[in-house]
Amino acid sequence: MAFPQTRLRRMRRTETIRNMVRETKVSVDDLIMPLFVCPGKNVSNPITSMPGNSQLSVDLLVEECKKLVALGIKSVLLFGIPEHKDEHGLVACEHNGIVQQAIRAIKAEISDIMIVADVCNCEYTTHGHCGTIVDGDVHNDLTLETLAKQSVSLAEAGADIIAPSDMMDGRVGKIREELDKNGFYNVPIMAYSAKYASAFYGPFREAAESAPKFGNRASYQMDPANSNEALREVEQDIIEGADMVMVKPALSYLDVIRRVKDTFNMPIVAYNVSGEFSMVKAAAANGWIDEERIVKEILTSIKRAGADIIITYHAAQMAEILIRENK
Ligand code: PBG
Repeated sequence: MAFPQTRLRRMRRTETIRNMVRETKVSVDDLIMPLFVCPGKNVSNPITSMPGNSQLSVDLLVEECKKLVALGIKSVLLFGIPEHKDEHGLVACEHNGIVQQAIRAIKAEISDIMIVADVCNCEYTTHGHCGTIVDGDVHNDLTLETLAKQSVSLAEAGADIIAPSDMMDGRVGKIREELDKNGFYNVPIMAYSAKYASAFYGPFREAAESAPKFGNRASYQMDPANSNEALREVEQDIIEGADMVMVKPALSYLDVIRRVKDTFNMPIVAYNVSGEFSMVKAAAANGWIDEERIVKEILTSIKRAGADIIITYHAAQMAEILIRENK
C-alpha cells in the first residue's frame, strides 16, 4: 500500500487547482477606502505617516472618488478636518460642515458611490477627545446629543451609512432614534462596536489631527486584553439597532473577528487601521517585504477570520492587483 494515503499536496500541484479550491477570495465589493477632507480649494496635504494618502479639499476629493469608482471601489469612508474646532464638537453638526460639503459635492458628480460617514467628535473638539468633557473625562450622555445631531446632519447631506466610532454607551440607540424621527429610517448604522484603545491609530491621529491633548481614550475604548467584553459590546449595538458591526483594529484582533462572526448572524466589518497600513509601507520602503504579496495576504486573512467588509487604506492598491490578476 502506498504511503502516506492522505496527500494534501495533490490539491496544490497547479495554479488552476489552487485557484479552484481556494476558500477565501477578496473582491473589490468587500472594500471601503477611507478618505480625509480638508478646507480650501486644490489642496492636497500628503500625510507623511501614511504614504500615498493625503488630506484633500472637496474638489480634489471628488476627483479621487472618481478614480476609485473607475477601479471598482464603490464605497468610501469620510473623515473631516474642519477649519475651526470647539469644545463640544458642534462644528461637526453644521449644515455646511466640511464632511457635509464633501458628501453633497460627491453625490452631485458621482451616482454609483456609497458614502459612509464617520461619526465622532475627536476631529472637531479643541481637546481631541471623542465627546464633551466634564470633570476631566468624556461625559457619556451629553456626548450622545452631539453624536445624534451630527448623524442627522450627515444623513441630510446624503450620507448612505452612518458609522459611529466614539464608543459611548447607548449611541447606536440614540442615533437610530434621531435618524428615524427625521425620516432617515432607511439609513443603516455601521457601528464601531468592538473598538480597542489601540496604539495602531497613531498615524491616523496625524492624518485627522485628532490626537487627544491630554490623557488617552482608555475610559471609553476597549482594553486590548478583552474579547468576552467585545461580544457584549457587539450584542448591545445589535440590540440598539446596528445593521453592521465592526471590530477595530483588524490584525491583532483576528480572534475577536472570528468570535463575533461565530456568535452573531450579522455583516461583520473589520477596520485595517492606519498603523497596520503604515507598518507595511515602512517595511516595503526598506525593501524588507514584498508589499503586494503582503497586502493580499493581510486582506485575505482578515476575510478568512470572518470579516465580510474591510475598511482599508490598501483598497485602491488591492483593486489594481485584482484588475491585473483579472479576477
Ligand atoms: C475617530 C476614529 C479613529 C479612527 C477611526 N475613527 C481614531 C481614534 O479613535 O483615535 C482610527 C482609524 C485608523 O487608525 O486608521 N474616533
